[in-house]
Amino acid sequence: MIGDKKVILSGMQSTGSLTLGNYLGALKNWVSLCEEYECFYMVADLHSITLRQDPAQFRKSARNLLTLYIAAGLDPHKNCIYFQSHVPQHAQLAWVLNCFTYMGELNRMTQFKDKSAKHSDNINAGLYTYPVLMAADILLFQSDLVPVGKDQLQHLEITRDIAQRVNAIYGDVFTIPEPYIGKAGAKIMSLQDPTKKMSKSDENPNASIYLTDDKDTVIRKFKRAVTDSEANIAYNDEQAGIHNLIDIYGACTGKTPDEVVREFNGKGYGDFKMAVGEAVADTLSPIQTRFDELSKDKAYIDSIIKDNAEKASYYAEKTLRKVMKKVGFTEKIR
Ligand code: TRP
Repeated sequence: MIGDKKVILSGMQSTGSLTLGNYLGALKNWVSLCEEYECFYMVADLHSITLRQDPAQFRKSARNLLTLYIAAGLDPHKNCIYFQSHVPQHAQLAWVLNCFTYMGELNRMTQFKDKSAKHSDNINAGLYTYPVLMAADILLFQSDLVPVGKDQLQHLEITRDIAQRVNAIYGDVFTIPEPYIGKAGAKIMSLQDPTKKMSKSDENPNASIYLTDDKDTVIRKFKRAVTDSEANIAYNDEQAGIHNLIDIYGACTGKTPDEVVREFNGKGYGDFKMAVGEAVADTLSPIQTRFDELSKDKAYIDSIIKDNAEKASYYAEKTLRKVMKKVGFTEKIR
């Protein structure tokens, strides 16, 4: 708790361009939380170097992600938006937690298995201990709630295990975090394979809508979206492509699946795809305009980066000192 508010922390990795899936599934839902909760949203740049990054590209996409958080509607005066690497307590706590995490636990992480299969030339120790850094992110702010997608639930589970283990040894050190299951964030699937999640690391650019895609690109990608031969707009699991388009249209217009089905009753897939494309382009356009404005205002973004890193460090340091003291490190002479 900070004051009388529960704490929320989440983050995204700063590599690749964010997709419509990241926006509708996560970012859009974060925007409404700041009145009720004390929210921290980091650009998880320390996590990014578990895979090799080109330095210039990495620096640019990290800043773009932070800017996009704001452009998408996160008020940086009501939400603490910062770079993980600017708050060294993340890495410090991660070291301590490493010593309370078992290799057996890390061996079970499915994301590690997937990523090491995909990047077999670079299975580094950071990739392996990635969940411990994520645990540090969460526990550093004594977070109560963590909005995460399904793919990250296992990491949240290990975070809880580590926190409980530390608490059992040293007394009350950490708040035990829970997953935040809000208004179901839409789960957006690939436009080329609607059984797969839309992902920013998809090699086929037609599979994902990027938040930076212009209207023509958006419409072209929806025209090419994989559907089926039913020629009937219905909301069911057999028609995964149409199901996905209904979800996307619904998320952009605020309509329920039933309403969407009724609206397009008797219409062809061509018309429907066009309407979805338009709705998505209309959703993205104000974000893109704001992003362009913000990107030009270097001084403003710099001030947000600086002020929020200070704010995050303040809370992070409080927890870190408590942990160091409980574990038995000698206190620094100040
Ligand atoms: N691992 C998360 C992802 O790839 C990003 C992340 C890092 C995160 N630290 C976090 C998410 C802490 C929630 C809380 O999506």
